[in-house]
This record gives sequence, C-alpha cells and structure tokens, in this order.
Amino acid sequence: MLLLHLSDVDEADWAAKLKAELAPYPVVQRGDAFDPAEVRYIFVWKPKPDAFEGLTGLKAVLSLGAGVDALLKHPDLPDAPIVRFVDKDLSQRMSDYVVAHVTMHHRLYSRFRADQQAKRWSQFYPPSASETTVGIMGMGVLGQDAVSRLKPLGFDLRSWSRTPKAIEGVEGFAGQALFGEFLGGTDILVNLLPLTPETAGILNYETFSKLRRGQLAGGPAIVNAARGGHQREADIVKALGDGTLAAASLDVFEVEPLPESSPLWEIETCYITPHIAAISDPASGVRYFGGIIRAHEEGKPLINVVDRSRGY
Ligand SMILES: NC(=O)c1ccc[n+]([C@@H]2O[C@H](COP(=O)([O-])OP(=O)(O)OC[C@H]3O[C@@H](n4cnc5c(N)ncnc54)[C@H](OP(=O)(O)O)[C@@H]3O)[C@@H](O)[C@H]2O)c1
Repeated sequence: MLLLHLSDVDEADWAAKLKAELAPYPVVQRGDAFDPAEVRYIFVWKPKPDAFEGLTGLKAVLSLGAGVDALLKHPDLPDAPIVRFVDKDLSQRMSDYVVAHVTMHHRLYSRFRADQQAKRWSQFYPPSASETTVGIMGMGVLGQDAVSRLKPLGFDLRSWSRTPKAIEGVEGFAGQALFGEFLGGTDILVNLLPLTPETAGILNYETFSKLRRGQLAGGPAIVNAARGGHQREADIVKALGDGTLAAASLDVFEVEPLPESSPLWEIETCYITPHIAAISDPASGVRYFGGIIRAHEEGKPLINVVDRSRGY
C-alpha cells in the first residue's frame, strides 16, 4: 500500500493520478481508513511530526522534493531508504531559471536598466560569453543539466563538487582545499548544492570577496536556486551595498515567505523570485514514483536513494 502525506500541495490530485497509474495497487491518503502496518511506501512533502507513526512495514520513503534536507531533520524518520525526485522536467525548469539569470548578469542588466531609468546613453560592451566564467557549485543532477545548457551559449564553465568530476568543457574543482581557487576565477557564481551541515551558509561575505573582480563591470554576481540555508542574507545586503557583488538572483531565502521587513526587497540589484525556480510536475512525478514502486515490487533495486551519511 502507498500512503500519501503531502503538505502545501494538492494531495488529492496526486492521489487520483497515482491511483490511476498504479491500479490495482492500493493508494491511500491520511484521512482514509487503513491499517498503518500495511503501508509499504510513504510519499512525503513537508511531513508532520506524526507522519511515520505505526508504519512498521515500510519499504521506502519517497520524497516529492529533489532536496531532502528538511526531511532528514524529521525526528521520527524511519530507517527505510529515502528515494528523492530526479526528473528531466524538473531539471529543465531549474536550468531555465539558471540560464535566464546567468545571461541577465552577463549582459549587465542592472547597469543598462539604471541607465534607462536615468535616460543616460552610455555605450559599454559586456565581455563575450567565452570571456565570462560561470562557476557552478554542485555538479549533481541539476548542476550537470545547467552545464549542458550553458555550454552551447559559449560560457567558460567551472564546477565545484565534493568529489572530483571530469566533464568535458568544464574545469572541475573539488573539496574545501580548492574552493578559493574555484571562486578566484568565477564571475557569476551559481549555487546548486544540497543543504548539509558542510554547505550551510556557504554564500557569505568571505565567499563573495574571493570571486573574480575586473571581468564583469561592476563586480561578480551570484545566483542561488538551491536552499535559503546556503545564504547569509545580511552578508548579501552588505556585499551588494559596498560593491563586493554587482547583483544577486535569489529564488530561496533563510525564512520563506521572505518577510516584508527584509532589506533585500528594496535592493534594485537583488532579483527575488518566491521559490519557483523549479516545481515537481505531477505528470512526471506520477510516472517516476509509479515506476519506482512497480519496479521495487518486482524485486528490482530502488534508484536515486539518499546517502544519509552524506546528507544528500
Ligand atoms: N529552488 C528550487 O525550486 C529547487 C528545486 C529542486 C532542487 N533544489 C535544490 O537543488 C539541490 C541540488 O539538487 P541535485 O539534484 O543536483 O543534487 P545532487 O544530484 O545530489 O548533487 C549534489 C552536488 O553537490 C555536491 N556537494 C554536496 N556536498 C558538497 C560539499 N560539501 N562540497 C562540495 N560539493 C558538494 C555533490 O558532490 P559529489 O558529486 O561529489 O557528490 C554533487 O555534485 C537540491 O538538494 C535542492 O536543495 C531547489
């Protein structure tokens, strides 16, 4: 039996679609009458404290989110394997966001918009894409998809990950020891890391001050589409104020929704979106998780299982 426990999304819609996909396999929602001991799979998003109560026969926890940082903090998370959402449609949407914001900063959008507001005709030529280095933190599913879409645009690309990566046309840096070197050649920093104790707060003033200066007029830019816990917002305000950063694109925030009192709202060079960079689309999600349950019931191993010791 599959149990759905989805908060802040249309659980009934997911349930109807999963029932149709998996029939005759039983699919239940929290309000239904069922024996918790019969539940083999639980499909979760923002699970409540009692989400896993009585689920003694669980084979897997299925996470609607690609990121599992919040799920891993659940005090009663059972020992069962956690399968996270990995999906072409989600990756495409994330790369759409990344490409839009990288190209915007590369073409000095903030500068020319300010000129337009001042009715100032000031000719200035941004460097070509090949003279502009995009540094991507996180070279997993989303980082590699972003690479595949930025490469045809001609950007100079570099990556930073935990373990070394050999990706054609991308200069790879791995581990804390090479973080400074990675930053030192980066003009536009894109964050696609998972949120773990090691990566929390990584977008801070010290990081910003190590980015390359002099290549992009006005200074380097950052793009954060991963998690709000990666960024120190007070440091972003300071860095945008003193020119350490020329611009910041933020889709995620320390506190969501971003409080009205946040100074970020008022900063013209800060581009805010309300955590909409990428959504898990129900049609692909149903295909993905339906396929995972069917395959596992046929005795095949689970895929995209979270490594709890790494935290992602
Ligand atoms: N804003 C949104 O709407 C949205 C939507 C979906 C996902 N996300 C976020 O995007 C994140 C990334 O997703 P993904 O599917 O690409 O994850 P992934 O496939 O697990 O890839 C994670 C990457 O980060 C690297 N990494 C992890 N810890 C590191 C560390 N301490 N130092 C350096 N590199 C480290 C990993 O290195 P190795 O390759 O060496 O393991 C890997 O390359 C998710 O965790 C989620 O938080 C946001």
